[in-house]
Amino acid sequence: MTIPTLQGTIQVPGDKSISHRAIIFGAIAEGKTTVSNFLRSNDCLATLQAFRQMGVHIEEEGKHLIIDGVGMQGLKESQEPLNMQNSGTSTRLLAGLLAGQLFDSQLLGDASLSKRPMGRVITPLSQMNGRMMATDGHLPMVINGEVLHGIHYRLPIASAQVKSAIILAALTAQSDTTIEEPLPSRDHSEKMLKLFSPESIDKKNHLITIHPGHPLTGQQIEVPADISSAAFFLVAAAIVPGSEVTIERVGLNPTRDGIIRVLQEMGADLTIEGIDQPGEPMANLTVKAGPLKPFHIKEADIPALVDEIPVLALLATAADGVSTISGAQELRVKESDRLTAIRSELGKLGAAIEEKPDGLIITGGRPLQVQNAALDSFGDHRIAMTLQVASLLVDQTVTIKDADCMAVSYPTFTSDLHTLIKE
Ligand code: S3P
Repeated sequence: MTIPTLQGTIQVPGDKSISHRAIIFGAIAEGKTTVSNFLRSNDCLATLQAFRQMGVHIEEEGKHLIIDGVGMQGLKESQEPLNMQNSGTSTRLLAGLLAGQLFDSQLLGDASLSKRPMGRVITPLSQMNGRMMATDGHLPMVINGEVLHGIHYRLPIASAQVKSAIILAALTAQSDTTIEEPLPSRDHSEKMLKLFSPESIDKKNHLITIHPGHPLTGQQIEVPADISSAAFFLVAAAIVPGSEVTIERVGLNPTRDGIIRVLQEMGADLTIEGIDQPGEPMANLTVKAGPLKPFHIKEADIPALVDEIPVLALLATAADGVSTISGAQELRVKESDRLTAIRSELGKLGAAIEEKPDGLIITGGRPLQVQNAALDSFGDHRIAMTLQVASLLVDQTVTIKDADCMAVSYPTFTSDLHTLIKE
């Protein structure tokens, strides 16, 4: 087996976070919302299905959606539980929205989602008079819709999902809500709400204020390519010798672009060609393989690259020296315990990774070599895709258990990667 190179141009699918929010805000707006480049992945389809169950008419034409908004009071009780499948974003954002809808809802999830902490949304929503019951802070969750009141809430962790849950609940409340963030997390909910209803939100520094009572109006949303999906190609092109890859129209929201800063700090050969247009910022990104310096990622950097840590750990194995990741304890409560998964599975490929309670220490610079070819994704899409990129660097066939979990965020990942491979 020879090691291939990667060459060519690729468009990765639409942004997962923005696709969820386009459905949610479109559903509670008045009038039609159109969404182009919607991500048809399992997570976003869980959100779509939930709103259909609550009586929202959504037409799908490939990656294009037309949502007939029902307004803030127009959702209906679902006759069946809402199955959130593997999607933490669907669960937490819907918990917020449904807390203030005057009917009952039940949220379920798969085995992985049912292990993830929901207390982080139940605490602030309960302070707003939300009534929800979950077993030990986990799914399944029953929500008895109630009249909510506003609160002032300081988030204990930088979490866009928790922030967005409170924003959605606050839209139905009887008084204003203010939210303080310890560190800025992705701001897609705030940006989208500003678009659908400029009077509903004010943002000053780290303080977000929601003013309820203003209607949302349907919009046209273009979803940029997901930087978290682009990340796998950015890293692959940087570390597979002889590669050069361009990824088109990638969302470069400053609350999400931490991987770009890391690549620059490492001295990667990266070109950013900005695209001038309204809405979320986008750019074409080109990466060529070349020498890399190690990186140091600290707690304050985490929110802007939280989903990229697994593939950044792989990137670090190719750097000339010791890279460190700290303040990343949130990785332990994602779709898998990502710190353990990365240490153990890249370890099977000979990577020198030490696991800390809140991060990883990665000694780069030695070629990967298979020690155990049976790799496990732990059913986590980002671990599966990281391992598939890693497999390009080894001279032996490996297997990845439960690799079909990639469909959670990127159903065509394997075939897209193959279009770039030149033997
Ligand atoms: C997301 C926020 C992040 C991220 C997740 C998507 C979102 O989670 O890890 O994949 O769309 O709001 P946290 O906000 O819990 O860190």
